[in-house]
Order: sequence, then structure tokens, then C-alpha cells
Amino acid sequence: MLRTRVALLVAGALGLTVLAGCGGGSTAAGGGSGAITLGFAQVGAESGWRTANTKSIQESAKDAGITLKFSDAQQKQANQIQAIRSYIQQHVSVIAFSPVVETGWDTVLKEAKTANIPVILTDRAIDSKDTTLYKSFLGSDFVNEGKEAGDWVAKQYASATGPVNIAVLEGTTGSAPANDRSKGFDDVIKADPKFKVVASQDGDFTRAQGKQVMESFLKSQSKIDVLFAQNDDMGLGALDAIQAAGLTPGKDIKIVTVDGTHDGLQALADGKFNYVVECNPLLGPQLMDLVKKVAAGQSVPNRILTKETAFDQAAAKAALPSRQY
Ligand code: AHR
Repeated sequence: MLRTRVALLVAGALGLTVLAGCGGGSTAAGGGSGAITLGFAQVGAESGWRTANTKSIQESAKDAGITLKFSDAQQKQANQIQAIRSYIQQHVSVIAFSPVVETGWDTVLKEAKTANIPVILTDRAIDSKDTTLYKSFLGSDFVNEGKEAGDWVAKQYASATGPVNIAVLEGTTGSAPANDRSKGFDDVIKADPKFKVVASQDGDFTRAQGKQVMESFLKSQSKIDVLFAQNDDMGLGALDAIQAAGLTPGKDIKIVTVDGTHDGLQALADGKFNYVVECNPLLGPQLMDLVKKVAAGQSVPNRILTKETAFDQAAAKAALPSRQY
């Protein structure tokens, strides 16, 4: 069941192994001289995944001797745009951000380009025809994550006659992980008419929203067989709603989620979740290496995929003792 997705996609001659080997210590841009200042516009603090991602970025910047200016957009695009504009005014060496949503970035990124400040996308992509607006995109293959979740459901119900009623807790509307995980999942599910998505709604990647939306699903639907929560936190919030409705999560409703945080894997080990597809938040070291390279004017791969896996219950139990986040 455990499936390893190893994806080091490197568009060009520079490999991730090379990037990962450029660790910390130096205060100079790779191959150049002078201090580097990184302006990072974070999405928010909506999930355990995001907390781990922020910690990874902050610690890696310190280790790499990069001065970090950090902002939390509280899941609002307007706040991220404001933060990016402030980094442009402060003439930082490099701007990196994880876009709250996919569209609407061209204007501010053109401003960064005009100011000659290179931009790196991390975690989430943007939807723009102009790929010169950023130097690189470091992050997961969200479509594949959704596909893996769908593959698990398809396999679990391979011999069932159906219907199999599925509820989906979607991530933030318009965000790359919500769009892509939905696509990957739907592509698998729609291949067999016995699978019916009976409810699907935005839970904004938070526990509170996951709980609230699941409560409304349970009121409106007479039977839910499977819940696909597009991150652990929404799935964890849904557990409260399911238990409050007198149902047993993991048995009455099978639950598949994405992330692989400690709390998510614990729920899987406890039999409350049934499968977890990993999304790796520990992007800090790779990001700092990229920052050094672009600050030094070196060419970098335009797309770098992260290395990830997926967990069944046995794999979760094995991974938990050393899980960092
Ligand atoms: O962009 C990554 C997603 O955002 C993670 O799956 C989720 O937990 C986070 O909020």
C-alpha cells in the first residue's frame, strides 16, 4: 500500500541533490559576495502543515545566514500583495511566496521584475501565462496527491457494487492545492459511475471549517461512505463532527486526507483516518539554496518537485516516532 513518489524533476542541468547540498553557514550569495535579504510572504497559519513550513523556512534562513523578512497574510491575497510591494520598496535581494490563490499576481510580479528583484514560488503555483515573472517553483505535485487519494478509494471499493457516496472537504477556493487535488481525485473517481460525490465544499484548510462543513454534510446527507479531506486539519476537524453524530470515523465513514502531519498520522495509527497522502512542508533548505543561486544570478530549474510518500496504518505507526511535525 505504501507508495513512494520520488520526484526530483529538474529542468536543466542543476539537480536537487546539488541544491540540497548547498546547506547553511554562508552569508554570501552562492558564488558571489554580500548579504542576502529574503522577503517571504507566507499564506497564513491555517494548518499544522503551514506551521511546519514556516518553521522550516525561518530555521533554514538562519542556518544559511540569510536575513529573513517574514509576513503572514492570514489567507488573504490582498495582504500578500501588500507584503510583496513592501519587499520591493525595501529592495530585498529575493522575494519568495506561497500564493494564497492561483490567479491575480501578474501586476505585482511585474513590479518586482521592473525593480529587478527575482521571485521564487514555493509550495503553491500561480496561474499566469508569463513564466518570466518568477525564477523557479519549488513544491509538490498536488494533482498527483489527489490522484493517489482517488486511487486508494478506487482500490478499497474495487469489488463493491455501489453506490459509494463520497464527501469532499475542499481546500481554500482558488488555491492551487484545492484546484489540483480536486482534479487528480475526480479524474480517478469519474472513471467508475458507482462513485458519487454527494457533497463538496470549501473548508479553507482549517480544523474549525472542516468541523463546521462536515456537520452540514452530515445533516444534508443520509449516507456518506468516504470523506476526502484535502488536508489533515480539515479531516481532524471532521472527526469531531462525525463522532458527535454518533458515527465511528474510519469505520462508518472511511477518511482519506493529504499532508502527513504528526496529528494526521496519529489519527491514522488510531484507526480514525484510513489513508494519508504526504505533502512535504519542509521546503526551507531547498528554498535557501535556490535563493542563494538566484541572488548570485545563476540559472536554476524552473520547476522542482518535492519527494513524498503515502501512508497506510502500518506505515503511519512506523513513521510516528520520528515525525518532525
Ligand atoms: O499548500 C499546501 C497546503 O496548504 C497543505 O496541504 C495545507 O495543509 C495547507 O494549508
